[in-house]
Amino acid sequence: MTDFKTLDSLTDIAGKRVLTRVDLNVPVQDGQVSDTTRIERIAPTLRELSSKGAKVILLAHFGRPKGAVVESMSLEPISHKVEEVLDHRVHFAADCIGKEAHDAVEAMVNGDILLLENVRFHAGEEKNDPAFAKQLAENGDIYVNDAFSAAHRAHASTEGLAHLLPSYAGRTMQAELEALEKGLGNPARPVVAIVGGAKVSTKLDLLMNLVGKVDALVIGGGMANTFLAAKGTDVGKSLCEHDLAATAKQIMIEAASNSCAIVLPVDAVVAKEFKAGAECETVDIKAVPSDAMILDVGDKSVSSINDWIGRASTLVWNGPLGAFEIEPFDEATVAAAKFAAAQTAEGLLTSVAGGGDTVAALNHAGVAGDFSYVSTAGGAFLEWMEGKPLPGVDALKR
Ligand code: 3PG
Repeated sequence: MTDFKTLDSLTDIAGKRVLTRVDLNVPVQDGQVSDTTRIERIAPTLRELSSKGAKVILLAHFGRPKGAVVESMSLEPISHKVEEVLDHRVHFAADCIGKEAHDAVEAMVNGDILLLENVRFHAGEEKNDPAFAKQLAENGDIYVNDAFSAAHRAHASTEGLAHLLPSYAGRTMQAELEALEKGLGNPARPVVAIVGGAKVSTKLDLLMNLVGKVDALVIGGGMANTFLAAKGTDVGKSLCEHDLAATAKQIMIEAASNSCAIVLPVDAVVAKEFKAGAECETVDIKAVPSDAMILDVGDKSVSSINDWIGRASTLVWNGPLGAFEIEPFDEATVAAAKFAAAQTAEGLLTSVAGGGDTVAALNHAGVAGDFSYVSTAGGAFLEWMEGKPLPGVDALKR
């Protein structure tokens, strides 16, 4: 991690105002934070800064208020959850710039933690407006970015600020970048990627990037059907983007020219209805009934996927293999996830997972804690897998 300054270099910060970008875009149901993972991930950085005597000023967004004050997107209720998780008082200011913010910062004592209101209540945030970034910077001496999951946004609090203040990666940002480096940056080979999810169309760039980087690409979920159909397999009533047949073929050609094996299902669990407990059967991939749909990969496919995982030194995983949210179509995802977790536990595999449904799928399998690293990032993880630069990360580079 030589590209970034980390908190290791922040030794003498007692009394310093540290503007700390965190990701508090957490799931909320009925007004309650329903998953505190992102808050738990930023806790080490906040505790470390606070215990070093810094005045820790948190910048964050919640939802997409598009530059207007939207009460339901206030960070105030979330500040209580942060307080609970940290077991440390978290003050709150009703604006992230101007008098409210200034007065709240002035009132801080060393070690205090203050959360400023949603930065996206100001249009300048998403526009990365230099004047808005300057207003944010007025309340800080140092900038720490601990929000990898928002690093694909070139916004004032994720990118602009890094040009105005001495900048550092927080502990979660650091852990994320180190894990990703092991995943695709400079991985131990062989590298296997598992990419699942519904549609090829949302993951074209990702697939194209991966076939040039990994030794085997396992394709699961609905997107596998598009590849199977492109190869002439009848996928019945399955979700399938027939119009992307040429693109799927192009990805397979690219893979072949890069010696990347494409691993497609050889059997499938099919049903006539998409509902929990639907009557289903496992069939050879060449025998999918014309009135049925593929909802999971079959046992033989799982064996083949686990063979690849068994041969791999590095695994990068994004997206479930089947419709894992509905039983029994979760079985392949659970089986492969458990095998990857066991290989990781034996020290045979570095396993990195993230993006979209992946964390939910690994939690469902009960193994999220057993992977080498599970990213809480959605879009940022996908853009990293696509090989795109992440503005929030690039801005931290020395
Ligand atoms: C996320 O939840 O993935 C990040 O906080 C980014 O949120 P956004 O997609 O609204 O920019």
